[in-house]
Amino acid sequence: MRKYINDNWYYKDDFKNSYLKEVKLDSFTKVRIPHTVKELDYNYINSEDYQKIVSYYTEIDLKMYSNNYVYLVFEGSAHVSYVYLNGKLALTHYNGYTGFKVLLNDFKDSDDKVKVLVKVDSFESNNVPPFGKVIDYLTYGGIYRDTYLDIKNENFITDCFINATMDKTLTLNLKYFTDYQKNHVHITLNDLDVILPCKETLTFSDLNVELWDIDNPILYDLKIELLKDNEIIDVFEEKVGFRSIKSDYNGIYLNDKQVKIRGLNRHQSYPIVGYAMPKRPQILDAHILKEELGLNSVRTSHYPQSHDFISECDKLGLLVFMEIPGWQHIGDKSWQEVAINNVKEMILQYRNHPSIYMWGVRINESIDNHDFYKETNKIAKELDKTRLIGGVRCFKNSELLEDVYTYNDFVHNGTNKGVESRRKVTKSNYKAYLVTEYNGHMYPTKMFDDELHRSEHLKRHYKVLNDINYYDDIAGGYGWCMADYNTHKDFGSGDEICYHGVLDMYRNPKIASYAYSSQQDEYPVLALNSSMDIGEHAGGYIKNIMVMTNLDYIKLYRGETFIKDFYPSNKYPYLKHSPIMIDDLIGDNLKNNEPYSPKISQKIKKSLLEIQQYGLENMPLKTKLRMLNLIVFHGLTLATGFELYEKYIGAWGEDSKEYLIEGYKNNEKVKVIRLQSYKRLHFNYRYDTLNLIEDKSYDVASFRVEALNQADNHLNYFNEAIRIETSGCVSLIGPSIVSFKGGFAGFYIKSNGIGKGDVKIYYQDKLVKEFKMCVTKGEVQC
Ligand code: GAL
Repeated sequence: MRKYINDNWYYKDDFKNSYLKEVKLDSFTKVRIPHTVKELDYNYINSEDYQKIVSYYTEIDLKMYSNNYVYLVFEGSAHVSYVYLNGKLALTHYNGYTGFKVLLNDFKDSDDKVKVLVKVDSFESNNVPPFGKVIDYLTYGGIYRDTYLDIKNENFITDCFINATMDKTLTLNLKYFTDYQKNHVHITLNDLDVILPCKETLTFSDLNVELWDIDNPILYDLKIELLKDNEIIDVFEEKVGFRSIKSDYNGIYLNDKQVKIRGLNRHQSYPIVGYAMPKRPQILDAHILKEELGLNSVRTSHYPQSHDFISECDKLGLLVFMEIPGWQHIGDKSWQEVAINNVKEMILQYRNHPSIYMWGVRINESIDNHDFYKETNKIAKELDKTRLIGGVRCFKNSELLEDVYTYNDFVHNGTNKGVESRRKVTKSNYKAYLVTEYNGHMYPTKMFDDELHRSEHLKRHYKVLNDINYYDDIAGGYGWCMADYNTHKDFGSGDEICYHGVLDMYRNPKIASYAYSSQQDEYPVLALNSSMDIGEHAGGYIKNIMVMTNLDYIKLYRGETFIKDFYPSNKYPYLKHSPIMIDDLIGDNLKNNEPYSPKISQKIKKSLLEIQQYGLENMPLKTKLRMLNLIVFHGLTLATGFELYEKYIGAWGEDSKEYLIEGYKNNEKVKVIRLQSYKRLHFNYRYDTLNLIEDKSYDVASFRVEALNQADNHLNYFNEAIRIETSGCVSLIGPSIVSFKGGFAGFYIKSNGIGKGDVKIYYQDKLVKEFKMCVTKGEVQC
């Protein structure tokens, strides 16, 4: 039985030896887990602020569990945790990204009580991964994942490794706390229902099950009841997906079908609270990756992430590449011992998640180290033969002990190839080759960068995606990265943010995100890389207008006037949905409306479009000659040329700017963009729930806010602030003034009790929105 104790902790911002004897609760603060040792600003962060040694305290009464074994389980505490039970050091855990547990029974006092004091050290000077040199992400501190009691009887299942394969065979490798000869297990899964004497290995074949797949991630409930004389003494429950993974030279196979990996790297951090987010925001990230961005995989860079996140990947069919903590640096022997132990902990704790297809057993981007990596590989294969092994490097021809050569390829600089051919990176001619990062620091992009910059960001993602698809012998790739993240001073833009995401820190979409979402076919995507404002562009030459879409074609109108149908370009021919290029704002209109012959109209049009593309100053010679020809032989004047340019391309001096883009799929209009100049402001709110549920702990709803004009056009440079007021059973995480950044904002609302709550949004002192929220216990709707 599992009993969450997230709500029972007291916290103090220091640690003293005297706390081992006595904790005066009035000097501690009551906190709820997930907890961070320091709430931070959105940016401009001093990373020393969260590096400290702190204390968490709770008391556990074992009286009602006198016949039980009781474990205290921590799913994540950053970074070195010393667990003292009734004043004695019971356990030290040297890693902030995997769980650990301690048996309480041996430590109880004469009243059956255990006083638990956890000293948590979040100094980045600890000699454990990922520390030792610089790190491109903040590492935060505190007990930031669930804590619970695992209450057991005289005998119980201590471990069950589930291997459920595509041939519909289920193998259970079981370990028991004590001698199991007299016990039985009652096993159910779908229509399997058997009672058998306990064994360490149980195999069931020809099961009546469907396979777990990316598109059809069927999970079955496995229940194992441990029986003693027909009485249930322990229950083990897990979701099971039947699937098999393998790889060869060409790539990665799920159930013998090749999967081209299309993914992004994810950091588990959030603004203000860092790592300390409960289940719901973790789940939301999985949905964003799979459903909003249409990806089939995620790399949990650079450490194991919350089970809540991974369980949602299981549920959604999002393949996971999980790796041990670390960033470039390999430390001394004792540091390496911790890393080796991290491999063990990661695999033992996460190997029942069907979505995980590969373990990363190297320190991200570290140099070769034969002995160290021979050991991590050996342990990984010992603990799990059912998955692939990788290990991310950033240099070519490194020693390949793993199954897959996993490589961060940052070759693309905007003008060259998207990726290296695999031959240039590894000599291996039978193992798979996978790109595990691209773009990122090669082109940081802020939501509030100008249009050209944001478009370049988009193009770079398109280009790499395209070139990865071009190569049949590249297994796929993970872009860097899902969302912007707070980082150390050595990285980022000087404000402790790495603007490398295709989403911002609140998970709002930059235009580069459409390179991904437009590749899926579950929902229609129609987006534009431009606001069509000539003033946003140098010299007023608006160009390279791109429609990111998965539709068949678009119809473009200016005002009431039809311009032209446009079809997907062949700019990125290896993509399923190459974007549409709007390279003609004139269509047949000049020919139809102006007093020129079709041939002359065509010449004028061509010249105007070339001026738009190159600018007057950089006109190619052929354009100049054609213009000269029009002036000398056909009576066109420069003044008329300008007029026509303004009329058909610049749309200068018209009552208002208005473009209409209609998107068609199977000749049906499925989506429309109406681009208008600004008249009125409003905000659009996206949130995952208004009904928070207190279950394991407090709950958090994520709000994403967008500033739009009257036609729902995004306001790229809206940077004003809103004020958020909460009352009742909900509260805001972080400061009440929230500023927009490039037209987007975000905030998190957390529960603080059961009942109703109110969230009010003020803009320029006026109430503009009110959310009636409620907090319930369990799955009851408000
Ligand atoms: C890589 C590194 C990532 C991130 C990225 C930025 O070298 O593995 O963690 O720093 O660069 O592009």
